[in-house]
Amino acid sequence: MLRADQLERFRRDGFLVLDGFVEGAACDALRARAEELVAGFDPPARPTVFTTDDQARKTDDYFLDSGDQIRFFFEDGALDDDGGLRGAKARSINKIGHALHDLDPTFDRFSRTPELEALTAALGVEDPLLMQSMYIFKQPFIGGEVGCHQDATYLHTEPEAMVGLWFALEDARTDNGCLWALPGGHRDGLRSRFVRDGRTTRLDVLDARPWGDAGLVPLEVNRGDLIVLDGLVPHLSHPNRSPASRHAYTLHLVSATSAYPATNWLQRRTPARGFRIR
Ligand code: FE2
Repeated sequence: MLRADQLERFRRDGFLVLDGFVEGAACDALRARAEELVAGFDPPARPTVFTTDDQARKTDDYFLDSGDQIRFFFEDGALDDDGGLRGAKARSINKIGHALHDLDPTFDRFSRTPELEALTAALGVEDPLLMQSMYIFKQPFIGGEVGCHQDATYLHTEPEAMVGLWFALEDARTDNGCLWALPGGHRDGLRSRFVRDGRTTRLDVLDARPWGDAGLVPLEVNRGDLIVLDGLVPHLSHPNRSPASRHAYTLHLVSATSAYPATNWLQRRTPARGFRIR
């Protein structure tokens, strides 16, 4: 599934771009299904916003209980001062999470393929569990920034054994908010942990050094490309101020051989599953 030089690059850089991993038609089917889910969603009077600026303060029950649900989070810029929607619902949603892969048959099919199972094995994730999925819209004009972070801040395992799969469902360029990553940054340790404490969360800073933004490289990709991210590699995306959306689908896998702490924000009432039904 992976050539030796690809695996070596992944280990060296902490990320790897696999061109054309998914058929264009599969990307379009996922987009169409996401559109249907949004059309069927009736937003509450005060929708929940997703922003990485101040996630600890904005955490609410709707977010905390979304680990084994399909829930909808809005762009900060989509809401007016009273929490109402400024524009069309379909152009206001930041993301859908976090168990699309378990609850929706279209997402389940996209997420559980022999190719992904083989890729995960080639990456060395032993006994993989599909812990989290997100459909990310990065809306035209208002798609918010995602500050520099490590995914292991939000999904920590002991020992660290998390891999993120980032599927480009549309072309992603610097002007519509593509990912940027810091090559080799995964070898510099975990900088912070987003910790759940009952019904609240907080950010525990383990290492306060700032990221060296200068070394970040843009990962411009085409529809169907897959970016594999080590759970420790620092990455970000800038706001989308362009007229083009930048839809992506992400899957986060952990190893069942690592401990999954009760202090991770994402807790499920139904256990996470691997690529097959056990
Ligand atoms: Fe991330």
